[in-house]
Amino acid sequence: MRFKKFVEENYKRFCFLEGSDYIASEFALETILKIILKFNVHSILEVGLGIGSISDTVLKFANKKAYKIEYFGTESNEFCLKKLPENVEHFSQIQLYSELKYIENKKFDFIIVDGYDNKISDVEKFCDSRAIIFIEGDRSEQTKSVLSIFPKSLYVNIATLKKNKPYAHGICEETHYVGGGRLIFTNPNFSMKLFWFLEKVNTFIIYFIRKTRIYFAKKN
Ligand SMILES: C[S@@+](CC[C@H](N)C(=O)[O-])C[C@H]1O[C@@H](n2cnc3c(N)ncnc32)[C@H](O)[C@@H]1O
Repeated sequence: MRFKKFVEENYKRFCFLEGSDYIASEFALETILKIILKFNVHSILEVGLGIGSISDTVLKFANKKAYKIEYFGTESNEFCLKKLPENVEHFSQIQLYSELKYIENKKFDFIIVDGYDNKISDVEKFCDSRAIIFIEGDRSEQTKSVLSIFPKSLYVNIATLKKNKPYAHGICEETHYVGGGRLIFTNPNFSMKLFWFLEKVNTFIIYFIRKTRIYFAKKN
């Protein structure tokens, strides 16, 4: 991938920042850039900007490549609101709201859910005709809520065989893999269907390898 090194460095930078315990995984950042480039995403809504690891990575990458992105995000935590302007180089390019309910008449190509909002069930009104939704980590309740809104959607868990880096937060054990996420294609076209299918196969293989490794690790 053309952006692997860039993501690795930016993720590492965020790992050392104050309050970085809940930042998105390096794998999630890579997935987000992959989706942006693959599906020509030009408008993004991030639910839960946190301390800005996703928004900084996306906006820095977009600015470097002269790639046009409109970035909206929600955040209401005081600590994060203080940290965002310090951590996000292109902070002025974010249209920041405390909650989804305050965003009006705006639709997005790509919605990233990495935080809580009690109006997530309204996500449909922010979706463009082919919107893609990425739910970071293990947010099963939010995933269920979003899936129930889009009967025609295709959904895939994305996973990796990568292990946590020594400087990353979280468990650093042989049997623990970096967290993934869920991709939802709300109204997929042909290339989205193909991508979804290949990701399904990939995830199946990854889960199989993980289970096999855990089985042999337990045996030895
Ligand atoms: C998983 S975090 C979001 C991470 C964010 N997308 C990022 O890339 O940095 C979800 C929510 O947790 C809260 N949060 C994140 N970091 C925090 C911190 N250091 N202290 C308090 N709340 C935090 C924020 O409200 C945030 O929206």
